[in-house]
Amino acid sequence: MIINIPRGTKDILPGETEKWHAIEELIRDTCRLFQYKEIRTPIFEHTELFTRGVGDTTDIVQKEMYTFTDRGDRSLTLRPEGTASVVRSYVENKLFGLPNQPVKLYYMGPMFRYERQQAGRFRQFFQFGVEAIGSNDPSIDAEIIALAMNVYKKAGLKKIKLVINSLGDTESRIAHRNALIDHFSPAISQFCSDCQNRLLKNPLRILDCKVDRENELMAKAPKLPDFLNAESAAYFKKVKHYLDILNIKYEVDPNLVRGLDYYNHTAFEIMSEGKGFGAISTLAGGGRYNGLVEDLGGPEVPGGIGFAMSIERLLLALEAEGEIIETTDSLDVYVVAMGEAAKDKAVSFVSLLRQNNITAEMDFLDRKVKAQMKSADRLNAKFSVVIGDNELESGIVSLKYLANGKQQDLTFEKIIEDFTEIASRAMEELA
Ligand code: HAM
Repeated sequence: MIINIPRGTKDILPGETEKWHAIEELIRDTCRLFQYKEIRTPIFEHTELFTRGVGDTTDIVQKEMYTFTDRGDRSLTLRPEGTASVVRSYVENKLFGLPNQPVKLYYMGPMFRYERQQAGRFRQFFQFGVEAIGSNDPSIDAEIIALAMNVYKKAGLKKIKLVINSLGDTESRIAHRNALIDHFSPAISQFCSDCQNRLLKNPLRILDCKVDRENELMAKAPKLPDFLNAESAAYFKKVKHYLDILNIKYEVDPNLVRGLDYYNHTAFEIMSEGKGFGAISTLAGGGRYNGLVEDLGGPEVPGGIGFAMSIERLLLALEAEGEIIETTDSLDVYVVAMGEAAKDKAVSFVSLLRQNNITAEMDFLDRKVKAQMKSADRLNAKFSVVIGDNELESGIVSLKYLANGKQQDLTFEKIIEDFTEIASRAMEELA
């Protein structure tokens, strides 16, 4: 019996992995430019971290977590997102005590959510996320957004849209919450049981219910921006001001509330507007989470802000825009051997090429010369050399540039010594 891959997961095979490497490299480069440092946290955490951090009335916690009991009877959960883990680590490792604040961190890795599989939605997906913890300066909100936009632009996306909103501070949110309760209470019996439960616990979460999305009360629900107090409105204005300075265009969407409970003030999403992109057009989401450090047992410090994006959706968006990702994994030299003695030389020459940082490949199936040459073509090798008795005797081989068939006779040593120069000359001639 064949055992299939679990629903909502996928294998990433050679041909595809090179694209992932290119994106990951681009991400690391961007984080270096912006001075964010990598953090690696475990793939599973105590379940309580997410119920407290993400919020026990969210879809993520109520419906989507992979939770299990380990042999020591502890409830553990495969991480559905990265922010709660990063803040836990910030508290546990007392990063608030570091001299340089805010602490600017990034992470990449698999996240797990039990969701219905569709284009761009997986049960295991790979997130890149960024968190800046320990500053309430609106300019860092703009920096975080700029970083996300930078990654997409460098990857080649053109049709993207930034949508922002403010969820306000605690006072503003309480005012909005009360208005939501007043709005939904009279008709709550029309809503699903989850929404009914959420009414008093967390009415904001009714707004991202997937079941009652079409109910007319949803569109008419009180909007957050109408409840912002002066301080929150001023903060939002400053964020927009810095986005203007950075020349980042945005749309304000008063309906953007995000699906996790830790947010306040700035909330944002980046959407793909590429034709052919699936129903789920959100590429990245993030926002500010003042108070999360305290909620997870840390000291009172200035707040944090971050975002996350999945690489899967980034690749889908690139495909929808017809953008090709440049990959660097190419083969420099394919070494063809004719006969036993030549095979010995091929083994040692391939090894020497590799020691000198020249990518090299050879045949391992004892194939005829013609078949070996075919392999060189299929692998898209830049050059090939054929080693036979003559070459062994003279110590000279023909190095063939496969793009135009031009050959030059060189010693084995010379090929290694001058390879960079030979390769760039061959490319120039072709151009
Ligand atoms: P989120 O909106 O739940 O936020 O997820 C962020 C991004 O992760 C989404 O925009 C999408 O790119 C990707 N994503 C989420 N679920 C899936 C899925 N099932 N399949 C593929 N991709 C998915 C967070 O996770 C927050 N931790 C972001 C954040 C960081 N906020 C502050 N700091």
